[in-house]
Amino acid sequence: MAGGKAAPKSSRAIERLMRAGTNEHYDDAALYDFEYDDQRDDLVWYRARARESSTPHPILELGAGTGRITVPLLEDGHRVVAVDRKQSMLDRLKTKVQRLDDARLKIMEGDICELPVDDHSMGMVLAPFNVLMHLYTWDRLLRCFEEVARVLRPGGIFCFDVLLPDLEWLLLDPELHHCRTRFIHPETKRAMVYSTNHTYDHETQVAHIRIHYHDAIGRGARVRPEVPPRKTVQLAHRQIWPEELRCLLHLAGLRLRSLEGDFEGDRLTQDAESQVVVAQKPPTKHGHKKSGQR
Ligand SMILES: C[S@@+](CC[C@H](N)C(=O)[O-])C[C@H]1O[C@@H](n2cnc3c(N)ncnc32)[C@H](O)[C@@H]1O
Repeated sequence: MAGGKAAPKSSRAIERLMRAGTNEHYDDAALYDFEYDDQRDDLVWYRARARESSTPHPILELGAGTGRITVPLLEDGHRVVAVDRKQSMLDRLKTKVQRLDDARLKIMEGDICELPVDDHSMGMVLAPFNVLMHLYTWDRLLRCFEEVARVLRPGGIFCFDVLLPDLEWLLLDPELHHCRTRFIHPETKRAMVYSTNHTYDHETQVAHIRIHYHDAIGRGARVRPEVPPRKTVQLAHRQIWPEELRCLLHLAGLRLRSLEGDFEGDRLTQDAESQVVVAQKPPTKHGHKKSGQR
C-alpha cells in the first residue's frame, strides 16, 4: 500500500473499491461535465484524428460518457456509435443530442470488453480520457483491444489516451488532501470545496482515489476539519505502463503507430502527464486475427 501506511485490504474489499471506483464518480453527470468543462486539448486532438481518417464508416467511441467528445464529433458531421455502461452519463448525453440530428448517433449501453457491434463495421475507434484505466486487469484490457481489432475495418485507426503512471504522485501520503478547490455546484448552487487523496495498491496497479466534497466556509477554499465531507466518491484508475500497452496492442493484432506524451505531439518523458496513442488494424486480411484468437 502507498507509503506502507495503509493496512492491507481483503480481496473482497478491493473488489468493492473497484466497483465503487468505476461508478461513483459518474453518478452525478452534471457535476462531471462541470468539472471537466475547460478540458480542450484532448477534444481538439480527437476531432483532428477523426477528420483525418475520413472514413465513410461510423466512429465507435468507447466510454463516451456525457458526450464531451461525442457531441463535437456529431457537429463535425461524423456518424458515431457511443458505448458506455453508466446510465446516468448516457442520460445526459441523450439530453444534449435532442437538439441535433441524432440519426447520426447510436447510443449503446454496454461493456467495452464485449462490444455490441458487428465485425469490421467501424472505420475508427476512440477511447478518450482514461476510459481504459477502468479495466482493472491486463486480461480485461487485452479483451478490449481484441474487441477493437474485431470491430475495426482493415486499416482502421484506434486512438486513446491514458495517464502516464506518476510514481511520485502514486506514493503520496494517503491521508493528505490535494487539489483543494472552491466551486459552486452547478445544480444545487451550494458552495463546496473539492479535494482528493488516494491509496496506491502495488499488487493490482490500481490507484484508489477519494474525491471529497466539503461545504465551503466563507469565500475561500476553507472547510471545517471536524465536519465530515458532505460526500466522498471513489475513483479507481489502474495504472498502465507503456511497455504493457505495446505488448497488449501487439497481442491483440493491432499495430502501434505513435505513443506520445501529450496532445501536442511531445515525446513521452518523465514529465508527460498522458500517453496519447494511435494504433492501427493492419490493412490486409493476413495481418489481423480472428475474434477470440490469442
Ligand atoms: C473519464 S469518463 C470519460 C468520458 C468521456 N469519454 C469523456 O472524455 O468525457 C470514463 C467513462 O468510461 C465509462 N466506462 C468505464 N468502464 C467502462 C466499461 N467497462 N464499459 C463501458 N463504459 C465504461 C464510464 O462509465 C465513464 O462514462
